[in-house]
This record gives sequence, structure tokens and C-alpha cells, in this order.
Amino acid sequence: MYGHVAIAGKHTIPGSVTPPRYGNATLHAASIGDVGRGIQVTIPIGRVAFLGTGAMAEAMVAGMLARGVVQPEQIVASHPRAERRDELVARYGIALVEGNCEAAQGADLLVLTVKPQVIRGVLAEIREVIAPEQVVLSIAAGVPLTTLVNNLGGHGAAARAMPNTPAQIGEGVTVWATTASVTEAQRAVIGTALGALGHAHYVEDEKLVDMATALSGTGPTYIFLVMEALIDAGVHLGFSRHLAEQLVIQTISGSVAFAAQSHKHPAELRNLVTSPGGTSAEAIYQMEKGGLRTVLSKAVHAAYQRTVTLRQAQERD
Ligand SMILES: NC(=O)c1ccc[n+]([C@@H]2O[C@H](COP(=O)([O-])OP(=O)(O)OC[C@H]3O[C@@H](n4cnc5c(N)ncnc54)[C@H](OP(=O)(O)O)[C@@H]3O)[C@@H](O)[C@H]2O)c1
Repeated sequence: MYGHVAIAGKHTIPGSVTPPRYGNATLHAASIGDVGRGIQVTIPIGRVAFLGTGAMAEAMVAGMLARGVVQPEQIVASHPRAERRDELVARYGIALVEGNCEAAQGADLLVLTVKPQVIRGVLAEIREVIAPEQVVLSIAAGVPLTTLVNNLGGHGAAARAMPNTPAQIGEGVTVWATTASVTEAQRAVIGTALGALGHAHYVEDEKLVDMATALSGTGPTYIFLVMEALIDAGVHLGFSRHLAEQLVIQTISGSVAFAAQSHKHPAELRNLVTSPGGTSAEAIYQMEKGGLRTVLSKAVHAAYQRTVTLRQAQERD
């Protein structure tokens, strides 16, 4: 059975005349780079197989079903444990099988959602059954396209994506790239699948996926650490931990929503509330003196270097 879908993502793009419409088969173009920019594209997504159905796979399944881009009959997933298979069948009405090859056979899109440590084993398994027209999408962190292609015996159509943890509630941001052999229609299918996790940005240069690993992939960790530090500062002042948590969570989520809706640069929003000799000016002085900007910049850079090292290790093996 085929559902008709278009390009994924939760947001419209400049020049797109009609916003995305979820809940039935037709969607409109969203931000996935050069595929269908501003044009309504309707394509059949076909059958999707998830190999290794853990947290991220479940987020994608739930998102795709909730957006109506596929029906449960179009999804087959593999999992080694029977109780996990039973749980997913009961929750989503999708097909679950034990073997990766069984799941892979006949699927148009194969989504590899296993951990990086086991992906080579899974690639070695499906190498024997994969057909040239099938497209493989991996979300495994630090696993380059060359590893996918080489371990699938030169299979051309492969894509690699870096989502982040808010994907598990449909609020993630993903950066993805493909090999040159992936067709525009296949890219539209991939964009649709990744759009189930939140916002999805297609890039032509795979290096940007590594860079995104350091900025958005690892990004929630930076924010959680900042949240923790502010909560502790509130407790230090004398707030109960519960109230400090509530104040920090709402301050951060409210500030993010305000920044997004105002379309102003963060520096402009900050300057608006920084009065001469005031509390903000005093606090900002201490943050600059403590090197907050430099620390964040060094953290992102270090995460990028680590990503490159892990990718190089994958390429060597
Ligand atoms: N979580 C994130 O926000 C995030 C962000 C960016 C990228 N990623 C990437 O997404 C991938 C999945 O992450 P996750 O958080 O969803 O991990 P996860 O919850 O551990 O999911 C992986 C699943 O694969 C199963 N599995 C293990 N070996 C298998 C095999 N040989 N064949 C088939 N299934 C197998 C695991 O089974 P068991 O339950 O028995 O272990 C588990 O359910 C990883 O490669 C990670 O790098 C995740």
C-alpha cells in the first residue's frame, strides 16, 4: 500500500504559498534544500523498514504515523527482543520481525536506527539482500556515508542524518546528506521520514553533518548543563529546588519562543533589557569576565574535533 506524501519538516519556506498540511496524504515542500523548494511535490513513500527499533526509531514511527505520511501497514521493523516487538505491535499496529534481513526485504527505505557499535554487523547482514533501488538512511552518530556504501558492497543510494534528542517529542532538528546516487524522489522520501522528528535540513556537503553533530546533535547537552547551573544558582540564592526548576525552565522556553517570534537577533533582545548600571549589565559583565562565550565556542569546537576523530576511526576500520 502506498501513501502519497511530499517533503518533510514542520515549517514552511520562503516562497512556499501553502503551509504543510498534516493528517492526510498531501504535504507541501519544506526546508530540505534543493528538493521541491517552494513547489508541491507528491510522491509515494512506499514501504519503510526500521532496523533496530529503539528510542529514535520509535520517535520516527510515531511521528510519521501522527503526520499521516504513512499507514501502519507500510512499516516493518526489526528487534531482537520479543517483548519489545510485542510492545511496538500493540502500540502502533506496525509489523515487527526478529531478523534485519526479513525486515529489509521489499522496503523502499531502510532506516538504520541501531547504535554505531553494531551498525557494521547489521550492514554485513543486509548486504546479501539489499536491492539497488532500495535507499538506506542511517542516523548512527559518526558513521560516514563511505562506511555505509563500502559495507554494503558498493550500494549507491545511501543517506546519513544527525538528529538530536528533542526528536523524541517531535521537536528535534536534523541535518542530513546523501550520496550522489540518491534520486530527488528518494530524497523527498528521506526528508519526509526525517521530518517526523521535527525540522530537517538537507545539505549537499557531508561535512556539515559532522559540524551539526557538534552544534545541534550535542546541543541539548549544552542547554541542559546551563539549565542545571541556573537551577543551582537559584537554590544558592534561597529558592526551593522545585521553584528554581520551574523558574529556569519557563525562562528558557519563554525566551526561545520570544526570540523565534520576534525575529530579532539575540543581541538585540538582550540590549533591550540592559539598562545602564542595571542588573543585566552587572550579570553580563561577570559572564564575559568568566569567558562564557569562549567556553561555549571551545566546547563546540572540541565536540567537532571528537566527531572528526570518530569518523576517521570508522573510515580506517
Ligand atoms: N538518541 C538520540 O537523540 C540520538 C541523536 C542522534 C543520533 N542518534 C543515533 O540513533 C541511533 C539509535 O539511537 P537510540 O537512542 O534510538 O538507541 P537505542 O534506543 O539503543 O536503539 C537501538 C536499538 O537497536 C537494538 N539492537 C541492538 N542490536 C541490534 C541488532 N543487531 N539488530 C537490530 N537491532 C538491534 C537495541 O536493542 P536493545 O534494546 O536490546 O538494546 C535497541 O532497541 C544511534 O546510532 C545513535 O547514534 C540518536
